[in-house]
Amino acid sequence: MTTTSEKVYRFPEGFIWGAATASYQIEGAWNEDGKGESIWDRFSHTPGKINNGDTGDVACDHYHRWPEDVALMQELGLKAYRFSISWPRILPAGRGQVNQAGLDFYSRLVDRLLEVGITPFVTLYHWDLPQALMDEGGWPNRATVEAYVEYTDVVTRHLGDRVKHWITHNEPWVVAFIGHQLGDHAPGWQDSAAAVRVSHHLLVSHGMAVPVIRQNSAGAEVGITLNLTFAQPATDTPKDYHTARWIDGHINRWFLDPLFGRRYPADMVADYIDKGFIPNGEMDYVLPGDFDIITAPTDFLGVNYYTRALAGTPKNGETLERTEMGWEVYPEGLYRLLNRLHFDYMPAKIYITENGASYSDGPDADGRVRDTRRQAYLRQHFMAAHRAMQNGVPLAGYFVWSLLDNFEWARGYAQRFGLIWVDYNTQQRIIKDSGWWYKEVIARNEVR
Ligand code: FCB
Repeated sequence: MTTTSEKVYRFPEGFIWGAATASYQIEGAWNEDGKGESIWDRFSHTPGKINNGDTGDVACDHYHRWPEDVALMQELGLKAYRFSISWPRILPAGRGQVNQAGLDFYSRLVDRLLEVGITPFVTLYHWDLPQALMDEGGWPNRATVEAYVEYTDVVTRHLGDRVKHWITHNEPWVVAFIGHQLGDHAPGWQDSAAAVRVSHHLLVSHGMAVPVIRQNSAGAEVGITLNLTFAQPATDTPKDYHTARWIDGHINRWFLDPLFGRRYPADMVADYIDKGFIPNGEMDYVLPGDFDIITAPTDFLGVNYYTRALAGTPKNGETLERTEMGWEVYPEGLYRLLNRLHFDYMPAKIYITENGASYSDGPDADGRVRDTRRQAYLRQHFMAAHRAMQNGVPLAGYFVWSLLDNFEWARGYAQRFGLIWVDYNTQQRIIKDSGWWYKEVIARNEVR
């Protein structure tokens, strides 16, 4: 029953509601049909790296079950589906020999999506680097940039006639720093100097890929997806302000500034030198012309937002609401972040390419999944996004992470982000209550 006092948040006509996944997290079939090994295959097969010893060997078996998964997307009424391409499925050795079976898999998926009216948004790199390239030095090695451009050329020549939304990279900060400094993700390095070098190579590879995509995919929209946060001092102290500035510089500005023509932020270069991230103050891997490459004009900025970064400890000892990832539920941070991006950087267009919550609620005795906390999380974040749009923020779409429960990287299968429940023993899928609710949001194009 709708009451007259109920507030309705209407989204603009044509707003793109979607859901997102990534190849390694859902596909499985890790060594089938000519696919090469990726750094995530190698990493997850290394004892002690992943919670519970989980691997992506089978995951959601999406490689075989994709028709059923597209049918579920139709049931939800998705306007768009964001997925990523496994580089070693296309180029098993990272460059050179093309694996036609890999291209055919994605080609069939794209055709089916288009047939049923779901717009494909394709991420070229969502972390599964071919192991063969890692063996030659991986992202710290500039040669990987050239290989990425070759891979991008192969994929976009093949799918560019039908795919018109391309995302070059997913979360370069995570690749650089979680993968190469903290070591919690593949390839598991703990080398801060390498991490900064990787961040630069990822940005250059993005900039080099943009014109290649445009060449191969007439009229396409091209962008990059960053994991961005709202950094906030917990108290009014110089220490918390300093920390918040540092987090903002490290996670947000280190990538936004060069992409938007400002080169690396001077305060962060100084801090990185102090911390030993830039040994001897030398960035000899920054070649002449790199900043012009990195600022290649794009059509949109992809924003992944999950939580704020609170610098310091709140004074009043308030307990913060958290999801099972331990991430604070803070929708106001999305509002603040979107306003700030519009105010400071003015991207032509923004898509929220990921937002969602981990709660492990499973089927009740009647088979229904009552994940009310996920629904509440999404509702609050949709409302925050809507509020930002009233300020002129050019938000054009919103992708929920994730379509399905899946392999949550180092956390394995214990963390569930899906709108759809997956039973990993039987591969049965059940649309959760949040999924049914999302279906209604999409159908009405409004949140209540
Ligand atoms: C993001 C990743 C995505 C997923 C979510 C929870 O950092 O892009 O693959 O794991 O976090």
